[in-house]
Amino acid sequence: MKRRIDNAAALQHNTKRNRADSSVEEESELSSQDLSQNDSLHDQEDEKPGFSSTASFDDQDASQTSSFSMYNSVSQKLMAKMGFREGDGLGKFGQGRKEIVEASTQRGRRGLGLKVQGFQGELNVDWRDEPEPSATEKVDWFPECTTEIPDSDELREWLILGQRKLKINDETEFCTEDLLHTLLRCKSVFDNLEGEEMRRARTRSNPYEVIRGGIFLNRAAMKMANIDHCFDSMFTNPKDSQGKSLTKDREGELLYFGDVCAGPGGFSEYILWRRRWHAKGFGMTLKGPCDFKLEDFYAAPSELFEPYYGEGGVDGDGDITRPENITAFRNFVLENTDKRGLHCLMADGGFSVEGQENIQEILSKQLLLCQFLTALSTLRTGGHFVCKTFDLFTPFSVGLVYLLYLCFERVSLFQTCHQQAG
Ligand SMILES: C[S@@+](CC[C@H](N)C(=O)[O-])C[C@H]1O[C@@H](n2cnc3c(N)ncnc32)[C@H](O)[C@@H]1O
Repeated sequence: MKRRIDNAAALQHNTKRNRADSSVEEESELSSQDLSQNDSLHDQEDEKPGFSSTASFDDQDASQTSSFSMYNSVSQKLMAKMGFREGDGLGKFGQGRKEIVEASTQRGRRGLGLKVQGFQGELNVDWRDEPEPSATEKVDWFPECTTEIPDSDELREWLILGQRKLKINDETEFCTEDLLHTLLRCKSVFDNLEGEEMRRARTRSNPYEVIRGGIFLNRAAMKMANIDHCFDSMFTNPKDSQGKSLTKDREGELLYFGDVCAGPGGFSEYILWRRRWHAKGFGMTLKGPCDFKLEDFYAAPSELFEPYYGEGGVDGDGDITRPENITAFRNFVLENTDKRGLHCLMADGGFSVEGQENIQEILSKQLLLCQFLTALSTLRTGGHFVCKTFDLFTPFSVGLVYLLYLCFERVSLFQTCHQQAG
């Protein structure tokens, strides 16, 4: 290795040019080629100390690290044959450039010289050198709540009406200023990424993302499976305080579940898959392109799932932020559960915040409030609620979590390894 004389500028030149020409998708393939060349070099280096036929190679300082050492011996020999010597320039009289032509880091249709703030680091990271990913998901419960639930008069006093606030960089009541600004700076780095780059960055930040939907229609179903598993099947096999199952498979009550802000319906598909026929689901979500896609349920029958879009029933708009829809959905659930309510409600509301990612928490306030309200309206005593949230540090979100803490026996903030990095 030490004595390997470097070069192969032509090949290097080609390789680099190929890289620059490649689309983003091709990059990983190309880097894998580079690596296999590198591997073969390691394999061959003892037998084939490349370029030994050229005097200058032998003259090289054995300890010198060559900038060409990443190229295989065949390439190095080819270059050597053509008279190339490391340290000399290319060309008949060695008059050409001596430095490696850097691979272009240009992406997509960006200008050649463009620097993306925060992304000046090493672009050709070899991810295969990273350790095998593993995740330990730990469920932490808030301490037991001993505070009485305030009555509605007191709650009314808490209400402050004001202008809609769209600024987040001053929200330091539950987050230190330093942490908040660091967080916002880190998030802003992604603002200049193109769609494909963003997706790749996200996949790299969470290796479990590539599991995708598995046997289900989407990755949300896998997320729910993951959550249910971590919480001891609390959502598919609820138990009483003695640990006895409340909804046994054949005897006993059906599992009644709700799924709001839920299109296309992966969460429900998971529950139905676990319960087979022994469940009944009610769902409400916005009509439109993100509506339920019951015909796409792969793993479970959708007959036991009933979409209901609030006021107007199947003709409603499904918008959970309209109070009349929440009331209609609650009535529908109560009518169909012998007035007992649901064993569990799942809520996964989200919408595009493109261009305003840093204030997603603020933009989602109303949605979060309405999902919490729907849970409190439709769950039976002892029922379970799971809700996807974004950041939770504004007084509004913290206040909502506090209300849940007062209303439920136990509350946990949980990050699943299936959650996409925000
Ligand atoms: C992340 S998706 C839910 C995925 C779902 N849990 C699944 O398993 O397939 C977010 C959903 O929230 C819905 N949504 C957003 N705003 C809503 C609103 N105001 N009322 C009802 N649904 C809403 C979207 O239409 C979308 O279907």
